[in-house]
Amino acid sequence: MNAAISVVSVVGIGADGWDGLPESSRRLLRDAEVLIGGPRQLDLLDPADCGGERIAWPSPLRPAVPGLLAAHEGRAIAVLASGDPSFYGIARTLAETIGADRLRVHPHPSSVSYACARLGWALEAVETVSLVARPLGALAAALHPGRRVLVLGEGPGTPADVAAYLRATGWGDTRIRVLEQLGGPRERVLDATAADWPHERTDALHVLALDCVRDPGTLRLGATPGLPDEAYEHDGQLTKRYVRAATLAALAPAPGELLWDIGGGSGSIGIEWMRTHRSCRAVAVEKSPERAARITRNADALGVPALRVVTGPAPAALAGLPTPDAVFIGGGLTAPGLLDACWDALPAGGRLVANTVTLESEALLADRYRRHGGELIRLAVSAAVPVGGFTGWRQAMPVTQWSVTKGSVTEASGTRGSVTEASVTRGSVTKEEEA
Ligand SMILES: C[S@@+](CC[C@H](N)C(=O)[O-])C[C@H]1O[C@@H](n2cnc3c(N)ncnc32)[C@H](O)[C@@H]1O
Repeated sequence: MNAAISVVSVVGIGADGWDGLPESSRRLLRDAEVLIGGPRQLDLLDPADCGGERIAWPSPLRPAVPGLLAAHEGRAIAVLASGDPSFYGIARTLAETIGADRLRVHPHPSSVSYACARLGWALEAVETVSLVARPLGALAAALHPGRRVLVLGEGPGTPADVAAYLRATGWGDTRIRVLEQLGGPRERVLDATAADWPHERTDALHVLALDCVRDPGTLRLGATPGLPDEAYEHDGQLTKRYVRAATLAALAPAPGELLWDIGGGSGSIGIEWMRTHRSCRAVAVEKSPERAARITRNADALGVPALRVVTGPAPAALAGLPTPDAVFIGGGLTAPGLLDACWDALPAGGRLVANTVTLESEALLADRYRRHGGELIRLAVSAAVPVGGFTGWRQAMPVTQWSVTKGSVTEASGTRGSVTEASVTRGSVTKEEEA
């Protein structure tokens, strides 16, 4: 960023307005030639204290930011933000659009700090979910018995919506406290279970605090991959639980990474990838529109509504997708050009995992294993079932899985490079399979 470009002050302000500001923030606001903020924040400032030109954020905000700030270049600009500007706030948008080096952020206690202070909760022990511009389904992954969850509401109807959602998904005994106008003179707490929630509307400015209670009979979902198959709506096209757990282990998601889940089926691989960390992203590519719609429903129900679903056959449907960190192929392996397209799309260090139950696709994977190395395994899962008055094993179709990390530039360009070493270390796997 150009050092000559002026710095923008970002000042956090609470429901207590001017009275709650430290002198350092007051001084910045008094001296500002331009005050930018939401109408609610701007109204908290008395023109007698702050005489700068007032500008309300336009909508949509993000594309307007660079032009708006450029138009006032050289003047003292103060941006007003609610609470801590760095917590689900304007500071992120500003840092991403004009650069963090142009910002000086002056935080106020955030709404969640106030909520924890009122409830006696430890901030580091609670999960926070924002429902601002996000569907209610975002809550699902945070619900575990005994957990404390803070929810940032979208508007006056959010508490009633959350209560209805909790009732519908088997969490009706969850205690909901709505903490309104935290830190201000009109602070108030509403308190009831989701099952009995009486308030259709609340103050728009609020935080919800949930003490999660699962209803008897609600399916238990753990935090690790390998959710029960019953957690999914499916038509049989589902990577089953134990193979799914092994597949996620091979994919090894890390925070912030992007997965392509090709042949998404019911969406389970992309969904469990995203459930490992809230910053993980996934794109499911599914040729059947009916299944694509089902993937969306499963993603909503399992707490990852941000999963992107692309409807269409791969490889054509892959055009224009952002570069993945990992690719999973659960369907379409024999589609011409699919494996090559996935391999080519991966950057060096990217991972590819492919599962199949057919001999035709297995031949393809064996060929790639010879060329690129990696690990070729077969997963055979048997479950005990009644046999007359006794118990016997019923074996599911064995799944062949090839997983590989794309190597250095030499490997990526098709020469064996580091692959030889990979083949040697994985040799025992082949032997086991032959045994
Ligand atoms: C075995 S299922 C995958 C199961 C999935 N991993 C899950 O757990 O739900 C295979 C899926 O791949 C889809 N498929 C097959 N060929 C495809 C292609 N070329 N492009 C996109 N999807 C494809 C099928 O419609 C089917 O839904």
